[in-house]
Amino acid sequence: PLTATRPLLVDATAGGTAVAAFNVITLEYAEGIVAGAERAGRPVILQLSENASTFHGGDPRPITAAMRALAERSAVPVALHLDHVEDVELLHTAADAGFGSVMFDAGRLPYEDNVAATRAAAQWAHDQGLSIEAELGYVGGKATQVQSAHAAGVRTDPAQAAEFVAATGVDALAVAVGSSHAMTSRTAALDHDLIARIAAATDLPLVLHGSSGVPDDDLAAAVVAGMRKINIGTMLSVAYTSAIRTALAADPAATDPRRYLAQARAAIADRAAAMFHVIGRPTPT
Ligand code: G3H
Ligand code: ZN
Repeated sequence: PLTATRPLLVDATAGGTAVAAFNVITLEYAEGIVAGAERAGRPVILQLSENASTFHGGDPRPITAAMRALAERSAVPVALHLDHVEDVELLHTAADAGFGSVMFDAGRLPYEDNVAATRAAAQWAHDQGLSIEAELGYVGGKATQVQSAHAAGVRTDPAQAAEFVAATGVDALAVAVGSSHAMTSRTAALDHDLIARIAAATDLPLVLHGSSGVPDDDLAAAVVAGMRKINIGTMLSVAYTSAIRTALAADPAATDPRRYLAQARAAIADRAAAMFHVIGRPTPT
């Protein structure tokens, strides 16, 4: 069934686990992710980024309607999240489009400006009954950012994180602890001590962005250290695209997209199912 994001994060916090949040680009991503979640028997967050909304013509509603229909009929709880929103106009479409939570991304701004913009966004989101995630520090590697891809961002300072959370009223915090967006090799090294220090200094779920570049063991350790939402995007695109490449190479005369998209969708389901085993384990006591 469709669920709000907040109870998933509350349950993850209580259980010492994390919720997997996968980025959707096309319908087949959403279908594959939900199939993977059902196979693993785990709740999941389907998220659409501002960039993906732009790909769909700048209107998130059609693809979100499909995501919502998949959520409603799914055997596991599925939440819908609008990811990496920089455009306030897009933010203001979130409630009508059917999202239960948003990430407002003002991490590129100087600290004081980030606080002011995020506080306003948080107020708006709460008025709409949405929960809101923000970023402090700078997870690098986004296509729209000036820094070179895979450049590590400015790490989050634990004391500033506590101050930021109090000043903005956000419900979840994305932190910069060594990951970077859009990595196609899993070679990032996380600072687990920093994650634990931020978790101790703040009292809300922490979110890891750029998780595709982080090795399995490091992801599991990040959950133990306090990460409660693990954002995964690029890894799915790698699986999706390589499945299409393989299918087309095996059948160069193929014209019916159902042939190769079925393979791509199955690859997404397999990859997503595998990730639940990495990050869904309860913290050993
Ligand atoms: O918000 C989305 C995630 O940070 C995805 O990052 O594509 O590097 O896995 P990734
Ligand atoms: Zn991200």
